[in-house]
Amino acid sequence: MRKAVCPGSFDPPTFGHLDIVSRAACLFDHVSVAVLVNDNKRSLFGVDERLDMLAAATRELDNVAVTSFHGLLIDFCTANDIAVIVKGLRANDIGYELSMAQMNRSVGAVETVFIPTSPEWSYLASSLVKEIARFGGDVSKLVPSYVVDRLRRQVAD
Ligand code: PNS
Repeated sequence: MRKAVCPGSFDPPTFGHLDIVSRAACLFDHVSVAVLVNDNKRSLFGVDERLDMLAAATRELDNVAVTSFHGLLIDFCTANDIAVIVKGLRANDIGYELSMAQMNRSVGAVETVFIPTSPEWSYLASSLVKEIARFGGDVSKLVPSYVVDRLRRQVAD
């Protein structure tokens, strides 16, 4: 069975993430979408909310499961018998993503497969979505409708 993981912060999940997850689901028998639990980084959404949103977004993908992890991604891969990390790649991601991929292969013997981001999402980032939402901008073309609603509630608090 070819298993892969799509890791990330997903704060919040965007159409760019979902594009990569659905394309990974066509390439692998099973895909874990894994949310990093990072106590050192302030996130807008709690881990459970991000898992909820991802579960809703991937409901129709039978070979995709949503989960969270602490610590090193390579340890998550080993514990779950996963040999491949899947990452979406935007034009400006290459330097950082390449060093993470090389480090994960060097330390953990886990390969990374890059999927080029679809051109329509090449500018999309969760951080920008949050900034637009904070100032009342329209993010409905960038994230699923239930994420739009949660963003509205979250930034109003
Ligand atoms: O969505 P993000 O924040 O760009 O995702 C980054 C993520 C979670 C994939 C990356 O930070 C990660 O793998 N963190 C886990 C800790 C780890 O393994 N660090 C070593 C990287 S070489």
